[in-house]
Amino acid sequence: MEPTQQRDQLYFFDTTLRDGEQSPGCSMTFEEKLSLAHGLAELGVDILEAGFAVASEGDFHSIASIAKAVRGPVIASLARARRQDIELAAKAVEPAKRPRIHVFLASSDLHLEYKLKIARAEAIAQAGESVRLARSYVDDVEFSPEDATRSDHDFLCQMVSVAIEAGATTINVPDTVGYATPHEYGDLFRMLRKRVPGAENVIFSSHCHDDLGLAVANSLAAIEAGVRQVECTINGIGERAGNAALEEIAAALHVRADQYPVRNNIVLDRIYSVSQLLASVISFSPSPNKAVVGINAFAHEAGIHQHGVLSNPLTYEIMTPASVGVPGNRMVLGKHSGRRAMAHRLRELGYDLAPEDLDIAYVAFTELADRKKVVYDQDLINLVSHHRRHHDL
Ligand code: KIV
Ligand code: ZN
Repeated sequence: MEPTQQRDQLYFFDTTLRDGEQSPGCSMTFEEKLSLAHGLAELGVDILEAGFAVASEGDFHSIASIAKAVRGPVIASLARARRQDIELAAKAVEPAKRPRIHVFLASSDLHLEYKLKIARAEAIAQAGESVRLARSYVDDVEFSPEDATRSDHDFLCQMVSVAIEAGATTINVPDTVGYATPHEYGDLFRMLRKRVPGAENVIFSSHCHDDLGLAVANSLAAIEAGVRQVECTINGIGERAGNAALEEIAAALHVRADQYPVRNNIVLDRIYSVSQLLASVISFSPSPNKAVVGINAFAHEAGIHQHGVLSNPLTYEIMTPASVGVPGNRMVLGKHSGRRAMAHRLRELGYDLAPEDLDIAYVAFTELADRKKVVYDQDLINLVSHHRRHHDL
């Protein structure tokens, strides 16, 4: 895409504090939620789903406090398509400058029959009534047909039409169980935008789970299909395999801006600190190889790669660590590392060896690296000291 071409605004809807928190090991205290909410606001998320008001008194209190204290994003609460849920959600988000109620109701026959035990007609009526009720409290109402990607298309269109007619301003189409493939998910939006009356007056939104590892790919496919809100979580935390990772979507849009006709408000270089803040609050860190924020995301061990990166980082890095707030790349010294990376690290440690001494040190280094999985700074220092004593290095 040409840089001069018109770019639409893409809204980031963060659900770390709601869908993210709903996963094992991710429960957060009120103080932790509040501090994360401030971090998310500084990160530039447009909509912050602070919780599910009816879920517990604690959740209600967190949403209400975030709505009062956090300025910037729209503050949302989730609600089932039930009066009590919607009333509580409305009360929780009331202090917000820009409140949103997010109503959801299953649209797949599987969920209607086995979970809700209601017929399609009843679901349609509930969708309309609940969106209308939510609209009586706030102007900004999001509707999600849960399990949309396993729903009958005609029925899905009918439910979405009713929700729009009742006043929904955002239509979120959840891939609740991470079942969709990118093409299919994009086509689903194309179909809805074409067939549903009033579709041009609402914002369509993606909400992807990662059961097949496709959550980010599906979100990007949705953007290609005209979606202008993406729902996601920090570090991709969420039910089962998680939700689409905010940092991966934001990085992809930044690095491949040529592919997506959108702009967004994410302050990219705050990503790492928010990721770290979340990791310090929940019981696990992102996996080491996690894109963008994992400890290995900017680490290089192979000699060829280290040589390339030391000559020009662009050889093996598609974005700078600083662009996403990571302090720097890391040369990990191990058995795959080359002489140049070892020499570089030794220089950083204050040892500027002559070429022939480097040869000796490198032989000792490779022997050590074969025995140890990682060669740490102290190993290198010991190695040089030992050789200085015994071989006059
Ligand atoms: O995955 C899902 O369907 C959800 C909805 C409640 C939006 O999280
Ligand atoms: Zn979800």
